Amino acid sequence: MLLILLGPPGAGKGTQAGQLVEDYGLAYISTGAILRNAVKEGTGLGQKARQYMDLGQLVPDELVVEIVKDRLQQPDCEKGALLDGFPRTVEQATFLEKVLPDTGKKVDCVLLIEVAEEELIERLTGRRVCSECGTNFHVTHKPPKVRNVCDECGGALYQRADDSLETVKERLEVYKNQTAPLIDFYEGRNVLARIDGNQEIESVRDQIKGTVDKL
Ligand code: AP5
Ligand code: MG
Ligand code: ZN
Repeated sequence: MLLILLGPPGAGKGTQAGQLVEDYGLAYISTGAILRNAVKEGTGLGQKARQYMDLGQLVPDELVVEIVKDRLQQPDCEKGALLDGFPRTVEQATFLEKVLPDTGKKVDCVLLIEVAEEELIERLTGRRVCSECGTNFHVTHKPPKVRNVCDECGGALYQRADDSLETVKERLEVYKNQTAPLIDFYEGRNVLARIDGNQEIESVRDQIKGTVDKL
């Protein structure tokens, strides 16, 4: 099974991903997390990607597609995979359609999480992320039990460099211009499922589960 989480920054893609990979035994592929890790480790990829990420812009397609191509060939993807934050342009989606047959997979469902824009800004500027395991928290919607400490692993929480108000606004623009065209793209392929992401985290999870169970 291959699932794609699509939606604007702050929609809750990363938040929903953890439960989904567990429930359906999928490999988790978040291009954002892979790129942030490359930046942290100062690899060649990280050095190239950082300038775009800090500005809230997309990393060039040619860098990102290579990451996904390699990742999809790893053994843990045999049972299936969940893509979070990829594809993000029509070019990336077209590339995915070209490489998937080699892995014996097809896109089974694109889960579009829709959330009102004011809410997205609130979610992103209040987000805190675990520096060790990547779990997402929110200062008011999902506060950790102990301030700035991860409930899952005890790691320190930090604020993502691209979660400042200015960069969040740029990311929302980039989504509208470059990623939203994928909604029509996947609707045309009859694999798009709309999820109301304005609800509580658990209710969004139930909607997603209801959709995936019917596949
Ligand atoms: P990426 O890491 O993919 O970021 P994004 O798409 O901007 O999405 P976010 O991770 O910000 O949001 P999310 O939907 O995961 O929300 P979350 O669950 O955390 O990409 C970062 C950068 O990398 C890009 O800008 C680009 O530069 C580069 N990049 C990555 N992939 C690329 C690609 N394919 N091509 C080119 N460049 C690429 O939730 C947000 C907050 O809300 C959290 O605090 C959470 O606790 C809270 N929350 C979640 N759900 C709810 C709810 N239902 N109610 C209340 N609060 C909630
Ligand atoms: Mg995310
Ligand atoms: Zn943690």
